[in-house]
Amino acid sequence: MTGLETMKNKSAITLFGGTGDLTYRKLLPALYNLDVLGKLDKEFKIIVIGRRSYSQEDYINIVRGWVKEHARTKFHDNDFQNYSSRIIYFKMEMTNVEDYKLLQEFYIEQGITEHIYYYAVAPSFFITITNGLKKYCSENNAKVIIEKPFGEDLEKAGELNDKLAEFFSQEEIYHIDHYLGKEMIQNILSLRFKNIIFKGVWNKDFIENVQITAAEAVGVGTRASYYDKSGAVKDMVQNHLLQVLSIVAMEEPKEEGSRGIHDSQYNLLSKLVPITNVNDSLVMAQYEGYLDEENISKDSKTETYAALKLFIDNERWQGVPFFIRTGKKMGGRETQVVVQFKAVGDIPGNVLIIKIQPDEGVYFQFNAKKPGTEQELQQISLDFCQSCILENRINTPEAYERLLDACFKGDRALFSQWDQIVVSWTFVNDLLAKYYKQGAPLYTYKQGSMGPKEADEFVDWIK
Ligand code: BG6
Repeated sequence: MTGLETMKNKSAITLFGGTGDLTYRKLLPALYNLDVLGKLDKEFKIIVIGRRSYSQEDYINIVRGWVKEHARTKFHDNDFQNYSSRIIYFKMEMTNVEDYKLLQEFYIEQGITEHIYYYAVAPSFFITITNGLKKYCSENNAKVIIEKPFGEDLEKAGELNDKLAEFFSQEEIYHIDHYLGKEMIQNILSLRFKNIIFKGVWNKDFIENVQITAAEAVGVGTRASYYDKSGAVKDMVQNHLLQVLSIVAMEEPKEEGSRGIHDSQYNLLSKLVPITNVNDSLVMAQYEGYLDEENISKDSKTETYAALKLFIDNERWQGVPFFIRTGKKMGGRETQVVVQFKAVGDIPGNVLIIKIQPDEGVYFQFNAKKPGTEQELQQISLDFCQSCILENRINTPEAYERLLDACFKGDRALFSQWDQIVVSWTFVNDLLAKYYKQGAPLYTYKQGSMGPKEADEFVDWIK
C-alpha cells in the first residue's frame, strides 16, 4: 500500500512556484517517476500554482519537455499521458491573500480534502503563502514541505517558524534538505554502523581529519537575485553541509526511526565549537567574473566559495579538525567525504573516500608490501563504483523522488528538524557576524580552479 492510499481520498500536492526551476527540473520529474512506479494513488492530483496565463494544454506541453529530459525512468507517451491527467495548472497571484479564496473554492470543486503544500519559492514568500492558506484554506488537512534556506538568519527563521505554527503543527512541517535524500548520504549510516572495521575506529584516536567537499562547476546561473543576497555559507553550509557533517560525526542513534537519527544529529550539531578567530578557520572567496554576471550588483561582496575548519566538543572528536569547502565555478562537480586516518610513524594513514556525486561509490586506500621488495610499502586501493553498475543506477531514486515518497508516507527521518535548524543557524550567524566584525578578507579564485590558495593552507585537501 502506498503512503497516499492511507490518506483519505482525494488528496493533492500543491506546488507553489509552478513555473520555477525547481518544479520543472526536480519536482515534476520526481512525481513522474513515482507515478510510473505505481506509488501515487489513482485519485492523486498535482496542482501547480503560477501567475502566468498558461492554458492547461500549453503548460502540459512545457512539462513534457522537462520530464523527458530530467526524469530518471524512461519516458513513454502513454505514461506521460496518464501522468499529465493528474496535473492542473492554477493561475493565481501568490501574494494576493484574496486569491486563496479562489484556490479553496477550486479544492472544494475538485473534492480535495487532504493536502500537501510545497513551498518551491524564495523564502520571502513563505509567510505570504501561509497567511493566505490560513485565511481561506484552514479546514484542510495538510502537510507542508518547505525548501531551504529556512529564513535568512536565525531571527527570520524564528519568525517563520512562529507563522507556520499558526497553521501547521511541527509534525506536519517537512523541512526538505535534498542532500539528506541522496543515496550515498544515506549510505554513510550503513558504512559507519554496519562495518566493524569502521565502527571501532571512527574517533579521535584513529582519525586525523575529515574533509567534506561540495564543488560545483556551475555558476550563479539564473538565480542571481536570490544568490547574491545569500552566498555560499547560507546557501550550502548552513543546511546541506552541516547536515552531512552531522551524519558523518554523530553517535549511533539509540532508537530506530526518525527520532533516533534526529536526536543524534541535533546532539552533534549542538557541540560545534563556535569559531573565535575567523582568519584561522574561514576562507571566503568570489570567483573571477562574478561581478559581470547578470543581476549581480557591481560591488557585491557575496562569497561564492567558503572553506571552514571546525571542531566538535565531545569525547569522540576532541581535537579532530573537520574541513568543509564548497564553491561555484570550480574545476568540476564533485561532492565527497574524505576520512583521513592517522599515520603511524612513517607508515601512511589509510584514506576512506565516500563519493556522493556525480559518481557514487567508496574508495579505500591502504598499505601493502611492494612485490619483489623485502618490506617496502606501497599504497594500494579498493575502488567501488556503485553508480557504474546499471542496475544500481536504475534502482536509485533521485533525492527529490525519495523525499516526496517519504513525506507521503509520513516518514520524517530524511527531513531536517526545527531544533537542528536553530543550532545550525546559531553557528552560522555567529560565524558571519565575526567575519564581518573582524574585517576578514574576501579572496578571489579563478573559474575552473579548486578555490583560492589560502584554503590550501588549512589542510592537504585530498583530490
Ligand atoms: C541548492 C543550492 O540547495 O543545492 C544551489 O541552492 C546548489 O545553489 C544546489 O547549486 C546543489 O545541489 P546538488 O544536488 O546539485 O549538489
